[in-house]
Amino acid sequence: MDKIHLISGKSHPLLARKISRLLKVPLTPIEIKTFADGEIYARIKQKVRGDDVFLIQTLSPPINKHLVELLIIIDALRRASADRINVICPYLAYSRQDRKVVSREPITAKLVANLITMAGASRVLTVDLHSEQIQGFYDIPFDHLVGYPLFAEYLLKKNFKDLVVVSPDIGGVKRGRKMAILLKAPLVVIDKRRRAHNQSEVMRVIGDVKGKTVIIVDDIIDTAGTISQAAYALKRGGAKKIIICATHALLSKDACQKLTKCPASQILLLDTLPLPKEKKLAKIKVISLTPLLSKVIMRIHQGRSLGALFTWEQKEMAL
Ligand code: R5P
Repeated sequence: MDKIHLISGKSHPLLARKISRLLKVPLTPIEIKTFADGEIYARIKQKVRGDDVFLIQTLSPPINKHLVELLIIIDALRRASADRINVICPYLAYSRQDRKVVSREPITAKLVANLITMAGASRVLTVDLHSEQIQGFYDIPFDHLVGYPLFAEYLLKKNFKDLVVVSPDIGGVKRGRKMAILLKAPLVVIDKRRRAHNQSEVMRVIGDVKGKTVIIVDDIIDTAGTISQAAYALKRGGAKKIIICATHALLSKDACQKLTKCPASQILLLDTLPLPKEKKLAKIKVISLTPLLSKVIMRIHQGRSLGALFTWEQKEMAL
């Protein structure tokens, strides 16, 4: 299995091109088109028989289209006898529905796991799952990368004083605590409630942010309700400067207006999703996953450990 292939679906061609450039591995040509009725067609235009394929397809909007496209490409690769089909899916959509909260609901995170596995993927790699337990929904190798060390690396270079890390909800406390350890800062938690889907409300800020530079860490910005409300609450609590760090920027509906107006002075994002020109706000800075993903892809291809890349784990364990 000495030949590596990088194949890009249509969801994030820029990220695929950057990885291809850094690894000096050309993208294997693929034809993807949509029939008149909306059905998707995909054909790999080179031999992949017996080869190690890395399929780069994030689940950006339109999510359903990109999910089906992913499944169809996996199917094409399996029928073309690729030896391994490694799915590089930086944003694994549908992960927020990971358990039943009220009766007669689906668990879409498990459904998507079944679909990807049944289509023929050999491995899945993603970044910042909504909850880490989703890894267990897959019975194939699953690599879970985290974004907070990239944010921490950037922030440490800025030498901010009086830092406080904030988790905008109880679900994000573990992520926030890890970030706080790397930044050697205390952790503050926001008690958030949801009245309905996509409608959040801050109940109270648990901890002191007066006069501090506050770093809010979250996995997803969707409608920006959670993060902008958190920023207002922290401002009311006396925060001096507010910086938002979020891995996946969906920026749906009026998210950009909310982010522009809210009191955060900077928004750090990762490029797990493409950021259209009209959503590139002046206060947004995107940190690219290209170097990390490229290293990880090469190590998986060569059968080398990924643990050696995750030096922050040792730092956390040492504390
Ligand atoms: C919620 O549990 C997540 O971690 C995010 O805070 C949430 O999905 C963001 O959604 P929105 O931007 O629509 O408030």
